[in-house]
Amino acid sequence: MKKIVILGSTGSIGENTIRVARALRPAFKIVGLATHRNHRRLLEQARQLGVKHVAVADAAGARRCACQAPRGVRVHAGTEGLEQLATLHEADVVVCAVVGTAGLRPVLAALRLGCDVALATKEVLVVAGHLVALACRKYGGRLLPIDSEQSAIFQCLAGAVENGNHKPDREGREARGIRRLILTASGGPFAFRKRVAFDRVTVAQALAHPNWNMGRKVSVDSATLMNKGLEMMEARWLFDVPIRKIDILVHPQSILHSMVEFVDGSVLAQLSVPDMRFAIQYALTYPERLDGGLPPLDLTRIKGLRFFCPDERRFPCLRLAREAAKAGGTMPAVLNGANEVAVRAFLEGRIAFSGIWEVVGKVMDRHRRAPSPDLDTVLAADRFSRDLAVEMCRAP
Ligand SMILES: NC(=O)c1ccc[n+]([C@@H]2O[C@H](COP(=O)([O-])OP(=O)(O)OC[C@H]3O[C@@H](n4cnc5c(N)ncnc54)[C@H](OP(=O)(O)O)[C@@H]3O)[C@@H](O)[C@H]2O)c1
Repeated sequence: MKKIVILGSTGSIGENTIRVARALRPAFKIVGLATHRNHRRLLEQARQLGVKHVAVADAAGARRCACQAPRGVRVHAGTEGLEQLATLHEADVVVCAVVGTAGLRPVLAALRLGCDVALATKEVLVVAGHLVALACRKYGGRLLPIDSEQSAIFQCLAGAVENGNHKPDREGREARGIRRLILTASGGPFAFRKRVAFDRVTVAQALAHPNWNMGRKVSVDSATLMNKGLEMMEARWLFDVPIRKIDILVHPQSILHSMVEFVDGSVLAQLSVPDMRFAIQYALTYPERLDGGLPPLDLTRIKGLRFFCPDERRFPCLRLAREAAKAGGTMPAVLNGANEVAVRAFLEGRIAFSGIWEVVGKVMDRHRRAPSPDLDTVLAADRFSRDLAVEMCRAP
């Protein structure tokens, strides 16, 4: 039996992880759950699953949770509470499904204990991929991707994450014979709509993703295509492949979740109906495959798979992400921090949709990149970019 801790259990990935673990009982047992504020749902989950350790990152929420928690349930509080859950000694795998850089310290703490991490929170690798990869190499914990695109590549490479993490030497890398990784993007709600006035897009329009039902932040990132830029950087660290070997193709049906082209010209792809439980389940059962009752793919009902090159002029976030990835050092953390602030400002009606890439671009212009940052330098760059972005997003 594998014991699981879920950070971000009340969110879209968190709830789906619980569904997967329940469908595969008794192979999995959930031993810890963490959230930001939603302590009511957290306690419901703890009661249903018999979980004894919960964490609430928000201090006031943690106090309320402690008052309402039944006897025998320990409530861990604050950002330290999340780290305490990530380092529970009985956990075999920590699922990180919080939003943004809040996942960074807990992921590093789990990896430093040699624990496996199933990672949905791509921002962790964007801001500090080099530190996470180092922790994997040094302590032996594995990163198991939950993002559907990364899971597809992971499956095509059948274990390359382990190889990438533990044998980063040039010979080992070339032996895998990878010519390029091809990440697919649905294109979000706007890629196929002509003449969109990006300065007048509403929150409801941006959140109306055609294929996936996701949290608000990642839905907006999908609409700006920043999500694909972040995934490019995530893939770079997960698979130890340089950015110049990572391409993006828009694939509106979200059936083919990504591909690997090898040096002999062969291309391997992974396909399924668009449902995040496939990727979550593979991360949890890896290297085995189990029948969790997920819906089968009927190719005869699909009217052709379509692919297009993304339009970086219409979606400047892709270009900004590529620039940040090429610059490296602290620049990806700065792009990510500014984006998190700008997306929140858009969701709260303080800036226009097009304001997201305007803010991110301006913050990047003002940053002086540090080339090989340690954790403190990464966090300082993150703080710099958030402070500047907050100032820029203030209503005039
Ligand atoms: N949803 C998808 O299909 C999908 C696909 C691929 C990758 N991802 C990635 O997975 C991550 C989670 O996405 P999601 O869609 O599941 O998000 P979501 O539905 O918004 O849920 C986020 C979860 O994280 C918690 N959380 C948020 N901020 C936190 C903080 N500062 N400290 C501790 N916990 C915090 C939330 O708690 P509260 O409920 O209390 O706010 C909630 O449990 C993101 O990085 C996203 O890019 C998601």
